[in-house]
Amino acid sequence: MSGSKILSLGHYQPSRVVTNDEIAQLVETNDEWIRDRVGIVTRRIAGDETVADMAAAAADKALANSGLTAADIDLVVVATCTSVDRSPNVACRVAAKLGIAAPAAFDVNTACSGFAYALSTVDHAIRAGAARNAIVIGAEKLSEFTDWTDRSTCIIFGDGAGAAVVTATAEDEAPGIGPVVWGSVPERGDAVRIEGWRPYVAQEGQAVFRWATTALAPLASQACERAGVDPSELAAFVPHQANSRIIDGIAKRLNIPQAIIAKDIVESGNTSAASIPLALSKLVERREVPSGAPVLLFGFGGGLTYAGQVVRCP
Ligand code: UT7
Repeated sequence: MSGSKILSLGHYQPSRVVTNDEIAQLVETNDEWIRDRVGIVTRRIAGDETVADMAAAAADKALANSGLTAADIDLVVVATCTSVDRSPNVACRVAAKLGIAAPAAFDVNTACSGFAYALSTVDHAIRAGAARNAIVIGAEKLSEFTDWTDRSTCIIFGDGAGAAVVTATAEDEAPGIGPVVWGSVPERGDAVRIEGWRPYVAQEGQAVFRWATTALAPLASQACERAGVDPSELAAFVPHQANSRIIDGIAKRLNIPQAIIAKDIVESGNTSAASIPLALSKLVERREVPSGAPVLLFGFGGGLTYAGQVVRCP
């Protein structure tokens, strides 16, 4: 077995759209500051939906787009840092909702880099022969972990989910998921925190901003190098949607003027582990990236963790 590939994508967002003006009624901020400093215009905020509800809705769409059925799936992995329940994990809840019988099912928590970690873990499982068809999901309900009186965080976050169906490639087919570059800076782990029981997200925004705009571009380049793809060949760059200025800073250092740069942050805010599959699913739905074209994914955040890989667009 040579590797694995993304077969299809799907996403789910709650229906409630929250504007910057609405946030400005809660804390001292304004639309112009949020647009200029972060790049967010709106975000979606969940109502009764749980993380598992959103994860299952995204997975259901990805499965419908794949041509496979629930009976074909033998692995479910969910990246999330906002699951309230310790057990059952979100992956088991998704499997139950979708009628997937007896899959291996587990959650991954590396905060905002979670989807890229989960995707590579799934790729490795398929390469090792431990699974054949998997669903990998990024899902977050950050609104439950947001202090709506703290303007340094409440302007940023949103809720949602994105999912990918990943399958084994044929022996004569090139791998569709490239080698991962992953790691962390544990001694700076306190820069983004969700500590204690049902607490709020707290972060040293400027410190994370500086780290993201200085340390990550060389690591993203490494992911291209390991995949044998020159950055000039990338059709799209889909990084974690943390801040428009961070995205532009990394893209500039990668020198990829030909690539589409995902900017789902504008309409969805920062959805942590959900942001990459959400943005990628929308690009594919709008047919902005040709099938088979190389796309660089790069997640980063709490931990401080990071992970990225080049994938072939489904
Ligand atoms: O996704 C997980 C990983 N997290 C990240 O990647 C986040 C990275 N960091 C960031 O995106 C940015 O640091 C933030 C968006 C969190 C903050 O933006 P910033 O440009 O770093 O703002 P700042 O904290 O340096 O504040 C600049 C000014 C300050 O005023 P003075 O002292 O210059 O007068 C703040 O008090 O902006 C003020 N400010 C605000 N003004 C209006 C801070 N927050 C707000 C606000 N509205 N919401």
